[in-house]
Amino acid sequence: MDIEQPKEADFLNDFEKKHMPFVEEEIKGKVGDEIELKVKLGEMEHPTMSEHYIEWVALYNGDDSVVKKNIKPGGEPEEVLTFTITEEMKPRLRAKCSIHGIWERELDIKIK
Ligand SMILES: [Fe+2]
Repeated sequence: MDIEQPKEADFLNDFEKKHMPFVEEEIKGKVGDEIELKVKLGEMEHPTMSEHYIEWVALYNGDDSVVKKNIKPGGEPEEVLTFTITEEMKPRLRAKCSIHGIWERELDIKIK
């Protein structure tokens, strides 16, 4: 499975801005805490047509899927993903575009 990432993590071009999932708030907690992630996509609006739309957003821990939400064409590409913080988590947000594949952003979680 190919995963797309921006060429420069701190300087996204318009195409990358349409596909990269993101979370606005800082995420912090301790191991065992349940967290609600409000995942948005993207900084620039992505099409929501039947032939070109965001199919799902998901949280991964490394390469393991933790929680995934499907999005229908025409729907807002915005979802709440609920998960529990585990030790040595490698949290990554992923979003799948029906045409442009899977996009990934590493998540920074402040673990107390
Ligand atoms: Fe796309």
